[in-house]
Amino acid sequence: MDNNKPIGIFDSGIGGTSIWSEIHQLLPDEKTIYLADSKNAPYGQKSKAEIIALSCKNTEFLLDMDCKLIVVACNTATTNAIQELRAKYKVPFIGIEPAIKPAATHSKTQTIGILATQGTLNSELFNKNVEKFHNTKIVEQVGHGFVQLIEKGEINSPEMTTLLKSYLTPMIEANIDYLVLGCSHYPYLIPQIKKILPAHIQIIDSGEAAARQTQNVLKKKVGLSNLKNREPLFYTNSDPKVLSEILGNQYEVIEKNF
Ligand code: SIN
Repeated sequence: MDNNKPIGIFDSGIGGTSIWSEIHQLLPDEKTIYLADSKNAPYGQKSKAEIIALSCKNTEFLLDMDCKLIVVACNTATTNAIQELRAKYKVPFIGIEPAIKPAATHSKTQTIGILATQGTLNSELFNKNVEKFHNTKIVEQVGHGFVQLIEKGEINSPEMTTLLKSYLTPMIEANIDYLVLGCSHYPYLIPQIKKILPAHIQIIDSGEAAARQTQNVLKKKVGLSNLKNREPLFYTNSDPKVLSEILGNQYEVIEKNF
C-alpha cells in the first residue's frame, strides 16, 4: 500500500533532524528515512546549480528507497531547488522557508531579525517572500560559520558564543522583537541564543509548521500510514558519530557513500 511507504527527509547535514523530530513527534506511525549529506555541507555558499544537483542526488537516493513524499529539511535547498525538484519528480515535496510571515505579522516594533545562510538570503524565493512585508524592517544576517561548527558537534564552543554575540548584538540594537531562524541547523543554537537575547525577543523556526504541512499533504495526496509506531532510519555519508549524538544516541546511523 502506498500509504505505508516511508517519508524521505534530507538535509545538507545533521541540522534537518530538528525538522525530523517535529515530524516524528506529530506522525509517529510514519516510517521516516533521514539522509544527512554532511560530506557536502554547508550548502549555504554553493551556487544554485550545485544546490540543485545535490538536491536531485539526495532525492534519487530516497526515491530508490520507495519514499512516498520528500521533505527538503534544508532552507538553502528549499529556496534554491524546490521548484526544480517539483518539476522533475512525481512525488510531493515539502520545503521549509524562513517563517517571516508570523514574525512580521506579530511584531510590535515592526522590526524583525533573520539569521540564514547566504544561499537562502540571496535566493529569488526568499526575496519575493520578503517583498510582501514592506512595512516591516528586516535585519538580515548570514550565519557564517554556524553550519561548519554544528556539523563538527561544536554547538557550545566558545567560538560559537563569540559568533552568536557578534551577529545578534546589531539586531538587538536595531530593536527587533522577533528572531527568525532561517536554517534547519540553527534550532540547535536556541539555548545559546536565549542567553544572549533579551527575554522579550521571540524566536521562531519552521519545524512545527513543516510537520503540520507534511501531515496535511499526506492526508490530501498520499495517505497516512496505518501501521503503528514505526522505527526511523538514518543515513549519512560522513562520520556517523555526530548525527548519532544529536539524536541522543538513541538510533543506529548507517554510513553510506552517496
Ligand atoms: C547549509 O548547508 O549551509 C545550511 C542548510 C540550511 O539552509 O538549512
